[in-house]
Amino acid sequence: VTQSVKVKLGARSYDIVIGKHLLEDAGHRIAALGLGNHGIVISDSNVQPLYGSRLADALSASGLVVNVISVRAGESSKSLREAERLYEHMIALGVERDSFVVALGGGVIGDLAGFVAATFMRGVPYVQAPTTLLAQVDSSVGGKVGVNLPQGKNLVGAFYQPRLVIADLDTLESLPLREWRAGFAEVIKHGAIRDAKFFEFLESNRKAIFAKQENVVAQTVRRCCEIKAAVVSEDERESGLRSILNFGHTVGHALEALGEYEGLLHGEAISIGMSVATEISVRHAGLPREQAKRLRKLLADSGLPTQLPEKFGTREILEKVKFDKKVRDGRIRLILLKQLGETVIADDVTESQLAEAIDVCR
Ligand SMILES: NC(=O)c1ccc[n+]([C@@H]2O[C@H](COP(=O)([O-])OP(=O)(O)OC[C@H]3O[C@@H](n4cnc5c(N)ncnc54)[C@H](O)[C@@H]3O)[C@@H](O)[C@H]2O)c1
Ligand SMILES: [Zn+2]
Repeated sequence: VTQSVKVKLGARSYDIVIGKHLLEDAGHRIAALGLGNHGIVISDSNVQPLYGSRLADALSASGLVVNVISVRAGESSKSLREAERLYEHMIALGVERDSFVVALGGGVIGDLAGFVAATFMRGVPYVQAPTTLLAQVDSSVGGKVGVNLPQGKNLVGAFYQPRLVIADLDTLESLPLREWRAGFAEVIKHGAIRDAKFFEFLESNRKAIFAKQENVVAQTVRRCCEIKAAVVSEDERESGLRSILNFGHTVGHALEALGEYEGLLHGEAISIGMSVATEISVRHAGLPREQAKRLRKLLADSGLPTQLPEKFGTREILEKVKFDKKVRDGRIRLILLKQLGETVIADDVTESQLAEAIDVCR
């Protein structure tokens, strides 16, 4: 059965459809949106050979003209250079304002293709077709698009909502274990910040989820999308509530940037970031020690790192954190947990308090 979750944003509202065989059915779903008759599918070198023609054929069968463009897989493709290459390619293909983009891949492709769609000719519509667990539960929803700079993650970007999100659970079959784990880190995040019952569900069903048991995976993806959709509907541009989705991301982004986007996966980096934030939460937000342990245990049991890699010094990490948008007057803005399922936003964490928590997590 296909499930659907609505992201409510007035005239810019859209559906997230979750289910099986959805790429095969994407043609009529997308054609029905009336986005134009030329579809540019942007994918990567791993995903395109697996699912590129499944989607392209479906679009062609609905009478749309389709071109598929592929970029090299990996975080380092989320760059201005790659965006520029895509613009040039699109010009060469004769893309006009009546064309649309489909992002077929993980979060890297969703963020990059979404950014290209937001900026090419001042914006063409786009559809997200996420193929990683991380992208299905998180990055394809909410309209944050962008690229990295050498100085930091996502430093150039836009808020630009997709017209539709198609989460085909079949594509998760081919996802490597390490990527599955990384996506699960964002799943755990959704429970930790917003839904204690869902967190418990994850504790009890972790094995079934990792065994890719269909109904449990579908339920998990749906619940994450519901949580994210509700947060985004309330605060699209992150003037308040939406920042809770950054739980674990301040330190996580610093670790990603320090590894020059080639060491830790995003989900792995935020798993460590959540561990650090959890430690600070115990000290400054009253998170019961026993709940902190449960969070770290669920991460560790899922095969995710909870300790800082030795090669990154505490100073170095702090320097990177300062590049982050969340630093003001030497005080660091962090999302902390009051208890599982409930956050507080602290904007007065000092550098030395953060350094201390980092050292505890070594
Ligand atoms: N926009 C947002 O709100 C948001 C939220 C969270 C994360 N992100 C971003 O998402 C990115 C991480 O996304 P990701 O983890 O999906 O990474 P990714 O896009 O790099 O995909 C991970 C790897 O899996 C491969 N892959 C993708 N789908 C596959 C499939 N079905 N079968 C086999 N291999 C497959 C990819 O080629 C890649 O090698 C980061 O850049 C992060 O900043 C954005
Ligand atoms: Zn994330």
